[in-house]
Amino acid sequence: MGILEWATSPFGQRVPIHIAWFLIWVALIVGLTFLVVHAIYVRYFAKEKAFASDSPAENVKLPARIPRHSLAARLFHWIMAAAMFVLLFTAFLPKVGFQFNWVTYHWIAGSVLAVSILFHIIHATFYMDFWSIWPDRADLEDAWKRFQRFLGRPATPPRKYAKYPLENKLYHGAVMLSGIAVIATGICMMWRVRTIFFPRNPYLFSDMTWGLMYVLHGLAGVGLITLVIVHVYFAIRPEKLPITASMIVGSMSREFYLQEHDPKRWVVSEGSQGLADGD
Ligand code: HEM
Repeated sequence: MGILEWATSPFGQRVPIHIAWFLIWVALIVGLTFLVVHAIYVRYFAKEKAFASDSPAENVKLPARIPRHSLAARLFHWIMAAAMFVLLFTAFLPKVGFQFNWVTYHWIAGSVLAVSILFHIIHATFYMDFWSIWPDRADLEDAWKRFQRFLGRPATPPRKYAKYPLENKLYHGAVMLSGIAVIATGICMMWRVRTIFFPRNPYLFSDMTWGLMYVLHGLAGVGLITLVIVHVYFAIRPEKLPITASMIVGSMSREFYLQEHDPKRWVVSEGSQGLADGD
């Protein structure tokens, strides 16, 4: 049983046509297993989180609510999330036995996702703190300390986080890569179906190129099943609820901010009252 399905082209060439659909179940099981193992680990084995005692930022006067996500960033997040769910359900429900006319809903949601991501790239590049989501040296040093402590070896506690912990940054990288893959291939695949954008042209690419494109679209798509499960799991974990709430209301309490974040690595001044990046 291979991970791809193959067919013979009119020219007698053996070409991949798409992924084998059992990978949907693999992605679901991997995601659910991760969350069960993580929940058990946190409940029964994880030690209390410890951070290096920070030199208090006495001079910084912080507002009671720390702005975290601008209105534009929140609208982007929820539009993208809605498009992502429509894409996942329209793509995979028919493959597991729920037949309906999915293609139209799928390319419409795909177009919404593509436009929202384009907006996000422009917004993040010119209006937000672009580098806040990429791992830096301090993240790697602290990850190493955390790993040593996890193994029970002596190591000083890590610093508090900047705006985003390393895990969030790595997650963003994984979603970005799979997102780019589904969007780039999905846009090309719109030439295979009828849309409002351009006339259908299934001869745009060779059978082999189309096949590889469907395979990449499918692989990145099933990867997104796992990534979305993990994301939703963290969003609803009790200790993460203040972060999730900030994606709705835009801000988090000063207490939560000081508990987890280093004011020197994520600088918030009194002047920023109510305003987040990009506001
Ligand atoms: C979460 C993101 C996405 C997932 C999970 C996903 C998944 C899938 C899957 C499994 C198929 C069936 C492919 C096959 O039969 O081999 C498909 C088809 C398709 N996808 Fe996506 N996709 C996503 C995003 C997108 C985006 C962003 C676009 C457009 C910009 C798009 C456009 C299309 C089109 C046009 C087809 C139909 C191809 C055809 O029937 O020939 N998809 N998608």
